[in-house]
Amino acid sequence: MVVNITRDGDIAVVTVDNPPVNALGQALRQGLWDAVATLDAAADVRAVVLICAGRTFIAGADVTEFGKPPVPPHLPDLVDRIEGAAKPWVAAIHGSALGGGLEVAMGCRFRVALETAALGLPEVGLGIVPGASGTVRTPRLVGAAAAVELVTTGRPVKAERARAMGLVDAVVTGDLRTAAVAFARTALEAPLPLPVSARPVTAPDAAWWEDQHAAIAARAKGELAPLRALDCLRVAAERPFAEALAHERATFLALRGSDQAAALRHIFFAERAAPRPSHVTAAPRPLRSAAVIGGGVRGAGLASALRSAGLSVVLVADDDAAVLRGPQTGGPSTKAMAERIGDADLVIVAAEGALAMPAVLGRLGGMCRADAVLAVPTGAGDPHRTAEPVPTPARVLGLNLFGPTAGVALLEIVPTAATAPETLATGFALARALGRILVQTGLGGGSIGHRLLRRTRAAAEDLIRQGLAPATVDAAMRAYGFALGPFEAWDGGDPVNVAAMPGQGTPGRADLSDADIAARLTAAMAEEGRALLDEGVALRSSDIDLVAVHGHGYPRWRGGPMFEAGRQVP
Ligand code: 3HC
Repeated sequence: MVVNITRDGDIAVVTVDNPPVNALGQALRQGLWDAVATLDAAADVRAVVLICAGRTFIAGADVTEFGKPPVPPHLPDLVDRIEGAAKPWVAAIHGSALGGGLEVAMGCRFRVALETAALGLPEVGLGIVPGASGTVRTPRLVGAAAAVELVTTGRPVKAERARAMGLVDAVVTGDLRTAAVAFARTALEAPLPLPVSARPVTAPDAAWWEDQHAAIAARAKGELAPLRALDCLRVAAERPFAEALAHERATFLALRGSDQAAALRHIFFAERAAPRPSHVTAAPRPLRSAAVIGGGVRGAGLASALRSAGLSVVLVADDDAAVLRGPQTGGPSTKAMAERIGDADLVIVAAEGALAMPAVLGRLGGMCRADAVLAVPTGAGDPHRTAEPVPTPARVLGLNLFGPTAGVALLEIVPTAATAPETLATGFALARALGRILVQTGLGGGSIGHRLLRRTRAAAEDLIRQGLAPATVDAAMRAYGFALGPFEAWDGGDPVNVAAMPGQGTPGRADLSDADIAARLTAAMAEEGRALLDEGVALRSSDIDLVAVHGHGYPRWRGGPMFEAGRQVP
């Protein structure tokens, strides 16, 4: 049963149990719909606590239903029904109350949250707007400004901030069910507050909305949902409740069927599929300590992320790591290095270039514990060869880090032919501990990230040879939604030495629109993606899209090169 009703004296407790995240699929909507009728009819029930089993409160509508026609009871009707129940409902929130989950909670007369809980309306991240009164009830509860922040950014807030905003009535600790039942009893002693739909909202003036519009348009760069969400919020502040609700629903349904929403759903599921491939069944090795070798700012960023994940971490700066290149005079000795890293469960070489060469790794392998997992970058070459000189190559794994200089947004795991199953499983455990996006390449060797980059670079340089300026190509790709143009991304903003490019052609010859330029470069990425799949380097086409989005700034709302190529009519 996805909905169970129990009693605590005159308070009924409705428990939702729909693993993994209590998403509001049809069975759950029906279960809650029926629970309202059952409890309205129970004469001795004075109030109802709505609580969830498992790791979280209701985490939203069931995203897997989005490609299909909506089946009743519809979520907006369910929220109205809970709000209109004869007995006041109290939402008891732990984990995350997201999207439709928060909308159900706003249909309740009260909201109580554990201090560790988070609440939010992440719909814009899925290319839609809240579709069950989120844009209409939220401003009535927290005011227009806070509602704009919550709905247009999609970022959840922690319980205490939610209380300060007015989104929840109380933050509690200890046993949530006990606290919520006690809250309900106390609340019954005073007159009930108005249902959220009946509360007034102060409408900001037109200039305020225009400012919001300009700020969000600048951020959204072609992404539709944030501006449509703002539009819904404005209607909600300026028009009657029912009219705003109808406007929100129409916007929600239109966006749900849009290309952008399909692209964002594709990335949502790709991100969740990547860290748990079915072929990785071995148990990972324990991960308590790590040593990060070099890597400058990025190495330091990785070390700090590992610390936040609870590991004890030694960071060896590039200068100190130089000892790995061979006998040196001055500087720390091999013995001192071995003492620093000799205990780590995991040694990650974050430095690229000379420090990632086979001989260096052979020396490193001799310094760390015989069973330590050794993660090496593959940028310097074939990880199979790189691993050869390492004693027990079964514990070596290729690991590429992508993302902004100071952070790691994406990990790419490259097993070698010798990598043991538990070494691979440890790589996956590492990515999960870091909360980073992860993809695995096949045993064919090579890196999805590097191959995509090389191919895009070649295609971009081709355009320069045809006479386009690097700045033109960069601007076209930014207009397409990329975080940075290709030349900005590769050269950190330094001017590109066009004259030095082989085969530099006649400037001014090419006459390509921004859209043509973007089409050329994204098609080149997709072509390389197909080659990666054919060669077995990439295991899934969605992994290529993840690398493009998280490693190379491909606009998330376009779904990545493979997704876009797949949608084009042949
Ligand atoms: N619908 C269907 N499945 C969902 C889901 C959802 N809303 N949210 C998560 N799942 C699934 C995941 O696909 C995954 O499935 P798998 O185990 O088969 O791979 C499983 O639940 C666990 O998800 P995570 O790995 O993400 O679990 P975490 O514990 O790391 O995170 C979470 C939990 C914070 C709830 C996270 O899953 C999350 O952010 N989910 C999305 C929430 C969301 O976007 N909600 C809004 C939906 S749109 C909406 O509500 C529209 C409404 O306004 C009408």
